[in-house]
Amino acid sequence: MDVVDFMLTRRSPKAETLTDPAPDAQQLETILRAATRVPDHGRLAPWRIQVIGKPGQAKLGELVERLYKADNPDTNDKQLEFERNRLQRAPLLLAVTLKPVESRKIPQLEQLLSAGAVCYGIVITAGGMGFGAQWLTEWPAFRPELVEALGHDPETDKIVGFIYLGTASEAPKERQRPNLEDVCSEWGGE
Ligand SMILES: Cc1cc2nc3c(=O)[nH]c(=O)nc-3n(C[C@H](O)[C@H](O)[C@H](O)COP(=O)(O)O)c2cc1C
Repeated sequence: MDVVDFMLTRRSPKAETLTDPAPDAQQLETILRAATRVPDHGRLAPWRIQVIGKPGQAKLGELVERLYKADNPDTNDKQLEFERNRLQRAPLLLAVTLKPVESRKIPQLEQLLSAGAVCYGIVITAGGMGFGAQWLTEWPAFRPELVEALGHDPETDKIVGFIYLGTASEAPKERQRPNLEDVCSEWGGE
């Protein structure tokens, strides 16, 4: 499909509808190459991408379940199973983390935007290759325990996305988009 047509029609499938096949090693490398070819002021590369297969997902699942249980002691087994499964919904999981670089010239906001662009680059490249990808944060992304478990510094680093990858088992329905006139305008300087 033409790249413009793709961008005008793309949709993210829900993570829980993603099944095998996930991108293989070579396809994943293509996705990561494309996604790291991203606007990045000063070439700081202030982001890290971690590829998390089933064993890593299971480890994170145990942690997420434990954290949820600690916060919700009255929860039930069904909810705990849901929480344990949360990061295991798709065949492949990518964690994208902002690792800010000290810079007098390049503010953290720009570094965060670049990290977001990496996430979107993964979503659109995977989509362009026929895979399904959904970019979610949900509550675990905001927990320092997860930042630490992934080997980052919870004082400075932030998980900006968990990206679920696989093949969509059902086509996502169209999602309403903003009216262009509500969000775009011409500014004539007056
Ligand atoms: C930073 C970020 C975090 C997101 N986190 C969530 C989330 O936690 N839960 C959710 O339902 N959607 C979340 N979304 C929205 C989905 O990624 C996506 O926009 C939505 O499923 C619609 O997909 P589409 O516009 O690509 O078709 C997030 C989006 C962004 C940019």
